[in-house]
Order: sequence, then C-alpha cells, then structure tokens
Amino acid sequence: MSCQSPIVVALDYPTMTQSLEMAKRLDPTQCRVKVGKELFTTSGPVILDELHSLGFDVFLDLKFHDIPNTVANAVSVAARAGVWMVNVHASGGRRMMEASANALQNIADNKTVLIAVTVLTSMDQSDLIEIGINATPEQQVKRLAALAKSSGMNGVVCSAQESAMLSADLGKDFVLVTPGIRPLGSAQGDQKRIMTPAQAMAAGSHYLVMGRPITQAADPIAALRQANQELALPA
Ligand code: C5P
Repeated sequence: MSCQSPIVVALDYPTMTQSLEMAKRLDPTQCRVKVGKELFTTSGPVILDELHSLGFDVFLDLKFHDIPNTVANAVSVAARAGVWMVNVHASGGRRMMEASANALQNIADNKTVLIAVTVLTSMDQSDLIEIGINATPEQQVKRLAALAKSSGMNGVVCSAQESAMLSADLGKDFVLVTPGIRPLGSAQGDQKRIMTPAQAMAAGSHYLVMGRPITQAADPIAALRQANQELALPA
C-alpha cells in the first residue's frame, strides 16, 4: 500500500542505527522519510537500501549544486537507487536544472520527483545583499521558483508561508515541499515562520517535512498519528 500521508519525517540523527531504530517504529503507509546530509554522510547509500527495504518512499535531501554535468549525474544515480524525491539548488541555474531534468527523462520509467531549493530559509535580506543579490527574499524565491519550473523541475522546497503565492503563480501541479511545520502544541525550536500541518496544506503545500515534532516527541508514533489526524487521514 502506498503512503496515504503528505508527511515526510526528517530522519535527522547522527547515526544510521538511530535513524533505522526510528524508521522501524514508523509505518510507511503513514509517512515518507527524508535523508539529509548528516545521515547520508555518515551512512552512505546503504541507508537508502535499508529504508527502501522497510517500504519507505525516501526523499534524498542533498541539495546538489555544481556544474550541470556533475549534478545531472548525481541526480541520475539517486534516481537509479530508487529514491522517491531528490533536490538541487535553483541558484545553480537553468542549464544545471535542465541537465538534471533531462537525465531523469533518459531513465526508462523514471518515477523520481525532482525539486529545487530556492532561497534557504536561514537567509535573510542582509545575507542576500552580501552575496550580491539586490532582491527581497520573497522576490528571489518567486524568481527562482519560476526559473525552476521553466527548467523542468517538478517543484520546489519552500516555506509554507510562500505556498499560497507559489501555488497561484505556478499552478497547483507544481509540487511544494514545506518544512517548518509544527502541529498545535509542539515546540517551535529554531524554526521562525511556522504553520500547522492543516494550515500548510490549505495554503497549497503538497508535502510537509517534519523533524523534531515527531523524532523528539515522547511518543513519535502518537505525534505522527496526531498530525495525520489533523489532516483527517486514516490513522
Ligand atoms: O525538526 P524540524 O521539523 O525543524 O526539521 C525540518 C527539516 O527540514 C530539517 O531536516 C531541516 O534541515 C529541513 N529544512 C528546513 N528548512 C528548509 C529546508 C530544509 O528546516 N528551508
């Protein structure tokens, strides 16, 4: 049975053992999982095989950013490893994104979703100015999301606060993946601009990345169930 939920649990743990302990407690029909740089660097690609064999759809969140040929090859390897979703930096430019999209088109029966990161949510106006970008973060997000779409990306990672705007600009089929999700009553942590799962979906998000509200919960399974229930999904 495929996953019924838009929730993607970020397996942000320093070791493969801890990540797999959590994954084994989770149900692949109730969530997908995300492997980021820390986990991938410590475990290597075997983590993908382990999570796939547990039945999970895996988002490989390595945010590739390099010359077009290198990124296209990396994206292609990820797709051949069977990941459900992989991402690149939109600021790598049109040729880098087009090469990546073309690489996936060359894989028979490709099912991997290719998305782009626009502006890192850790960056504010002064950070952009310092790297020579004279636009507000919102303007830059809009510009890079439009570039991502016209370069063949299936969607972008964005803040849920940007979902309504990007959904209106780029259409409902353009996949919006949003972190910074906090169910009612959970700790905000270092995320500044947060939304609940239901608010984010109502704003147009397609997938919700949730780390600490699930992984650090006293009862992670109950926390996931509650978030899914908030979305009126079968638990
Ligand atoms: O624990 P929390 O729910 O804040 O985790 C969010 C996850 O989403 C982390 O893996 C974090 O690296 C990732 N992320 C984010 N903001 C972005 C992109 C990714 O929080 N803009």
